Amino acid sequence: MCGIVGYAGHDKAGPILFDTLKRLEYRGYDSAGVAIISNGEIQVVKSAGRIEDLEKIYRDIGSPGENMGIGHTRWATHGPPTAVNAHPHVSDDVAVVHNGIIENYLALKEQLMRGGVEFRSETDTEVLAHLIGSCYRGDLAEAVASAVSLVEGSFAIAVMAKGSPRLVCARKESPLVIGVGEGANYVASDVSALLPYTRDVIRMKDDEIAIIDAETVTLRDVAGRSLPIDLERVDWDVDAAEKAGYPHFMLKEIYEQPRAIQETLASRTSEIDGEVRMDIGLTDLEIKSLDRFSIIACGTSYHAGLLAKYLYPKAAGLPVDIEVASEFQHLLLKPGTLLLSITQSGETADTLNAMKKASTFGVKRLAITNVVGSTVTNMVDGTIYTRCGPEIGVAATKTFTGQLVAMILLAIKLGRARNYLSYENARKMLVELARLPGQVQEVLDGRDVIREIAEEYAKNNQYFFIGRDFLYPIALEGALKMKEISYIPAEGYPAGELKHGPLALITDGTPVVALATHGKKIQANIKEVRARGADVIAFASEGDPDIPKIATTVVEIPGARPVFSSVLCTVALQLLAYYTADARGLPIDKPRNLAKSVTVE
Ligand code: M6R
Repeated sequence: MCGIVGYAGHDKAGPILFDTLKRLEYRGYDSAGVAIISNGEIQVVKSAGRIEDLEKIYRDIGSPGENMGIGHTRWATHGPPTAVNAHPHVSDDVAVVHNGIIENYLALKEQLMRGGVEFRSETDTEVLAHLIGSCYRGDLAEAVASAVSLVEGSFAIAVMAKGSPRLVCARKESPLVIGVGEGANYVASDVSALLPYTRDVIRMKDDEIAIIDAETVTLRDVAGRSLPIDLERVDWDVDAAEKAGYPHFMLKEIYEQPRAIQETLASRTSEIDGEVRMDIGLTDLEIKSLDRFSIIACGTSYHAGLLAKYLYPKAAGLPVDIEVASEFQHLLLKPGTLLLSITQSGETADTLNAMKKASTFGVKRLAITNVVGSTVTNMVDGTIYTRCGPEIGVAATKTFTGQLVAMILLAIKLGRARNYLSYENARKMLVELARLPGQVQEVLDGRDVIREIAEEYAKNNQYFFIGRDFLYPIALEGALKMKEISYIPAEGYPAGELKHGPLALITDGTPVVALATHGKKIQANIKEVRARGADVIAFASEGDPDIPKIATTVVEIPGARPVFSSVLCTVALQLLAYYTADARGLPIDKPRNLAKSVTVE
């Protein structure tokens, strides 16, 4: 997730671009850049770091003071956060800012290179700049239309060209809003950036192209046919707008999961040949010679790692050890082990210290993280990025499901390279994986049922979460989410363990969340707690005939194999925790005593 802005008006573009960019900084903040037309030339200023750093450089070179420009604040997905990789990207005559992922960028890049184009950055966006540049013959809208018709993936772009008196924008599956003002028009990834300037907006739709100058905005399709304009008056305040109208960042981030999963999968899977194309810094030979998979992580990331225990022996023929990073000293790593650290921030001190210690074992090391260029990435042979965009809420949500998806991709990759997972099974998994974003959306659409349950039990002073197999880590994660933001003591257990002790805590009306989408054995565990007076809130597969007969309440989850159910049940449990904390009136995005990134041991 990145933020893009644009301005065409009669005032100096620079200050407006910087102000609007700062309002989008929550979408990404690892590097930034602006492009302005000055004396007929495109002038570009870019830097790694925050927007203030860029603004200083911009002031130092002297404001060109022209009144049209574009800007970008980046959350890296392709290439580290350096000035070279920062947007805008330029060809000879064209400058582009982009949010989204160009899935076929490698194929397009090779094609452009064969035609003599030299690339400066590692980004997918530079491909767009050269593609539009190669189509540009004086009509920028025409060039953008031709270029985007060659592109697969998601994009919101704002484009400027030498000799063009107008900005051109286009979108597909990434948000883009045009602000309509008096003698000035604006572009931004979302409405929050525009509110100080105008409340009249046009939300661009997929495959639309907008042509913008100080006085006019016109919309057309890729074939050049003009389209009607749907002007909307926005009455949100700035705070609500930053959260896209959601009351909390956590809820917004829960809702961003279909997209975050889609982006984490983008251009990495081939359903036809059953392959995962993802560079993990190990050759196929090295992958074949592995005989163990060890994982270290903390908190929610540790729960993502636990999934491996159920997935990797069967999918990749690898036994799994997992340890919370602060207890790493007890893990003995033998040659032939692949060590994986999972950390959304890439900066957690416990995880980094464990990775440092692990370097003495001389084993291959890998990281799953959400932050390009974070410290952990410098300590490993390979990194798998979840492409979830920045997460602001302290409680991890979209980055957790992103980690689960990354773990699944890695299992398929290792399984195929080790000839452990058959082509047919890999292909089936990839087909089902592609359905996951839509199924997550179905869970989100069922939020009202979950909200009612949350409100009913919000005053309780304990919660239990049980699951078996793939759903045991999710029971732990559901309990952690509940503790973190609602402050209700909540415990997660393997469903079979209750009878070995915790059952003593079950009394009349104790809420027990049972993750019951798979397996018959959990039915006995549900009966066990019901017989002791518990209220069982069961998450069951759609149309399950048995669970409704034994549970107090049933929430239906779309049917999927257990490993994918883990993602779907997670989303339902995030909603349960969220609505419980909301009913208790708690500061959901910033729970007491917790920090987003824990940089002390
Ligand atoms: O950035 P990391 O994934 O390394 O963070 C690890 C934990 O601190 C983190 O998952 C924490 O448990 C979250 N607040 C959970 O919501």
